[in-house]
Amino acid sequence: MNRLATGIENLDKRLQGGYPQGETILFTGEAGTGKTIFSLQFLYQACKEGKKCMMIATEETPDKIQVHSKLLGMDLEPYISNGQLSITRMLEMRAENTIIMDKNGNFMHFEIDDLHNLANLVSDDVEVIVVDNLGTFAMGSQIKQFKDKLETLTFSLANQNKTTIITMDEAAHEFTHRVAEYSTYGSIRLMVKENPYTGKMERFMYIPKMRGTNISLDFINYEINENGINLFPSKNKNK
Ligand SMILES: Nc1ncnc2c1ncn2[C@@H]1O[C@H](COP(=O)(O)OP(=O)(O)OP(=O)(O)O)[C@@H](O)[C@H]1O
Ligand SMILES: [Mg+2]
Repeated sequence: MNRLATGIENLDKRLQGGYPQGETILFTGEAGTGKTIFSLQFLYQACKEGKKCMMIATEETPDKIQVHSKLLGMDLEPYISNGQLSITRMLEMRAENTIIMDKNGNFMHFEIDDLHNLANLVSDDVEVIVVDNLGTFAMGSQIKQFKDKLETLTFSLANQNKTTIITMDEAAHEFTHRVAEYSTYGSIRLMVKENPYTGKMERFMYIPKMRGTNISLDFINYEINENGINLFPSKNKNK
């Protein structure tokens, strides 16, 4: 299986080289756990490798995303300028009468309910996609409909060999009975909890699922600093 570097050295080691190519990985977690930063590091890494990338953002504006990335040592501007990276803000699209341009340059209607059609917005040469945050699409929908639409989306993205990170806030994830985890190839949960050894609140990652990958079920300790995510190395030298 081909893998794409995650942009985080120790995470690559944990995932036998990186995220499985052409598959969708879900990141869930409470506010501030680092979902957006994990996504941005993946995008930045893919940009550095010359891949064409797209970010669909539902909360932050493209300008703010660029500012936050730069504070973490990732300058996205050159890749936006050369056309390698595009950042689309979903809610603005909605405000603009929901008529947007699809990958073939045709105008189409797009509503938040059209989750399953999201792949139509992505041009054929895009290899890496980030959707941050899918929770926006879950609000107000029936659980079964949400699951069906997400499955349609992940199926068409996989068919087009696009490697995708989807983030989802914990509230929307709970609200939809955590069904998104079943529809994606891999799932990574981010959390803050007390470290029993230090008695302090610390950041942890837990990977309940990564198909085709030999993963450890340990809680993996990480921190966020001015360089982004720093995943602490495993004590087990094989992982
Ligand atoms: N330059 C920085 N230096 C240190 N820590 C930072 C820096 N930038 C962000 N952080 C930390 O990262 C956290 C936010 O991470 P991020 O935005 O990825 O979380 P999130 O899971 O996407 O949150 P939300 O659900 O609100 O979108 C901040 O609360 C802060 O603790
Ligand atoms: Mg975020």
